[in-house]
Amino acid sequence: MTKTGSAAAVAGANFALVKYWGKRDDRLNLPAAGSISITVDSLTTRTSVTFKDTKERDSLLMNGKAVSGKMLDKVSGFLNLVRNRAGIRQPASVETVNSFPTGAGLASSASGFAALALAASNAAGLNLSRHELSVLARQGSGSAARSVFGGFVEMNRGSRDDGEDAAATELAAAAHWPLTVTVAVTDLNPKDTGSRDGMALSRETSPFYPNWVAGADADLAECRKAVLNRDFGKLADVSEFNCLKMHGVAMSSRPGLIYWNDTTVRLIHEARRMRNDGIPVFFTVDAGPQVKFISLPEAALTVKTRLDGMPGIKELFSCSLGEGVCEAKGGAG
Ligand code: PMV
Repeated sequence: MTKTGSAAAVAGANFALVKYWGKRDDRLNLPAAGSISITVDSLTTRTSVTFKDTKERDSLLMNGKAVSGKMLDKVSGFLNLVRNRAGIRQPASVETVNSFPTGAGLASSASGFAALALAASNAAGLNLSRHELSVLARQGSGSAARSVFGGFVEMNRGSRDDGEDAAATELAAAAHWPLTVTVAVTDLNPKDTGSRDGMALSRETSPFYPNWVAGADADLAECRKAVLNRDFGKLADVSEFNCLKMHGVAMSSRPGLIYWNDTTVRLIHEARRMRNDGIPVFFTVDAGPQVKFISLPEAALTVKTRLDGMPGIKELFSCSLGEGVCEAKGGAG
């Protein structure tokens, strides 16, 4: 069977409150534990995919630049999953544009593979359910499974070897509790150690790793409850605890992974100071030096004003909670 088609999709980044750091299967990207995240509205990836009747190879244009090497191989491998499922063989041209810095710990792989999963599967004539899209996106990047959904999202660890039950579900819609995220970018360069290599190193070498995995279910239960009850204090407490634990595991790997810079540390202290001053805000940090301040919407302006002009901050973005991946019209740009 041959098919040619074109489709575009847009997906928001997501930030984990209970984090994914470790796999139970490397090939299928099956997580060792579940995770909970929020999908945001204004840090987005827009991707278009066109399957062509030519003998050329897959091509990738990222933020206007042609990309080859490892990144293209990864995208081609992902497209093979879609081609095999649809029974097609055509090469694809992929165009993708991020509205934020790529590969610097701002979840570009999450929004990227969620957008690619929807655009590629639609272009191939597949009509996948949200669950199927989440399973597919996970195979590009574990956290991408979560960007298929909006608002508060839970990724299930799953127990099957084929990964069909390792997918995300919506925990609560964005409207349930409209939190605000202020992202302080402290370094615009891509990080030295990506999360895939970082989490493999932690699993192999950190003496804290078994405890990290063993504690996940308790953190998930606490976080789930805090979200459903809209209990900001409890959400702040479990999210900061889980974030610092993840970085404890990363730092106790050999060689230790230190994703933070001096500004990251100053901003973590600033988040704590703000909360001591009665401002409803907490921090989270992923595998990079950027700090995300999560606050109640009425505090967002105060948080931004406190951060504005602080030395070491390169950019400040404000986001609200957003929707899951959706179809887009036209090309990527
Ligand atoms: O999906 P990946 O391979 O980019 O891993 C994401 C890892 C963290 O961002 C650090 C945590 C998370 O749950 O998003």
